[in-house]
Amino acid sequence: MFTLSKLAIAVAAASMIVACGKKEEAAPAPAPATSPVAVPAESTVEVLHWWTAGGEAKSVAELKRIMQEKGHAWKDFAVAGGGGDNAMTVLKSRVVAGNPPAAAQIKGPAIQEWAAEGVLANLDETAKAENWDTLLPAVVADVMKYNGNYVAVPVNVHRVNWMWANAAVLKKAGVASAPKTWDEFFAAAEKVKKAGLIPVAHGGQNWQDFTTFESVALGVGGTDFYKEAFIKLDQKALTSATMTKALETFRKVKSYTDAAAPGRDWNLATAMVIQEKAAFQFMGDWAKGEFTAAGKAPGKDYICAAAPGTANAFTFNVDSFAMFKLKDATAQKAQGDLAAAIMGTEFQEVFNLNKGSIPVRLNMDMTKFDDCAKLSSEDFVATASTGGLVPSIAHEMAVPPAVSGAMKDAVSQFWNNDKMSVADGVSSIAKAAATR
Ligand code: GAL
Repeated sequence: MFTLSKLAIAVAAASMIVACGKKEEAAPAPAPATSPVAVPAESTVEVLHWWTAGGEAKSVAELKRIMQEKGHAWKDFAVAGGGGDNAMTVLKSRVVAGNPPAAAQIKGPAIQEWAAEGVLANLDETAKAENWDTLLPAVVADVMKYNGNYVAVPVNVHRVNWMWANAAVLKKAGVASAPKTWDEFFAAAEKVKKAGLIPVAHGGQNWQDFTTFESVALGVGGTDFYKEAFIKLDQKALTSATMTKALETFRKVKSYTDAAAPGRDWNLATAMVIQEKAAFQFMGDWAKGEFTAAGKAPGKDYICAAAPGTANAFTFNVDSFAMFKLKDATAQKAQGDLAAAIMGTEFQEVFNLNKGSIPVRLNMDMTKFDDCAKLSSEDFVATASTGGLVPSIAHEMAVPPAVSGAMKDAVSQFWNNDKMSVADGVSSIAKAAATR
């Protein structure tokens, strides 16, 4: 659990990230339909996010365009770094300094933690006027509320348990179709290796290791195991034979990655699949945003399939923006407009077409979406009634950030150290899960 006093510790780390110069601006937005006239400073919305990869930047540019059309100026506060760890550190330093942005990409249980600090604005007026309670799945609305009041607005639904594959590479290697079980997967990976190509494109950062791990564990253990281990953090499940099997499988996946993976960004791993250098990537459907930005077509150039053994499950990752308390009435109005725009049909469609996710707003017309998005949408609804719909632990949906952070580190220690025994890996992850 973080507190504002603890936040101060983050300041030094935050200034280091900014000083290291990895801060990038998002790609330029298309010209606004109405040329922006002088906008009062209070009407400017400063928005913190970590969407700097190709498909991500195109998506956020649409929000900027919509806000400009509503007469607001957009101040981009983009902090590069997939998964958002850098962005969260920088955000903490800004809040400690008493200078929060108007809105920040914050999700899952962290929303509750920020709200408990008393720094988030109440969005109920906009939520009521726009009928959010009827437009959102209850499971999502609950996460956006603190003590019954909306403090954040959801953007999308990403599915994490995807496996992406390059169709030409599979053909070249003699792999007839996307593997459905882990045994089939390893047989396919062997063929790709024999064809002289990289079986698995992986980016070596701890959130990417964790992303792959949760899909492997879900595929090996099933949803009940996933819930016990990664939502309830049950020690029995975390130290079970199933967990051992999951770590063995995870290590085997690593043996099919290339030596240059450490430190690689996720979108560069996706590029390896796009460019026919690698066969598979385990990544959420923001990867599809990269395929789309590169002009690739699903079913033809690439294949989207549930990670082996996970077709009946859906690990969800809902992006959202929380708004910070601002004093000025014009600034508050701008925040309300931003929140309304995010839940609006125009944004929900165009943003998600670019981002690879599906709209979070219910009953949206899916005509313009591709087959991967349609499958995601169908599976989201289906798994909600079968119990297969589970929050992604790697993407901060399942447990508080302190716990997932400790587990993420433990998973990466195991991934990066081939000499660590599986038994030691199991016990260090279980110990990390007990972090409070
Ligand atoms: C996730 C986020 C996605 C995507 C990804 C990579 O945590 O929910 O929207 O941006 O990180 O940056």
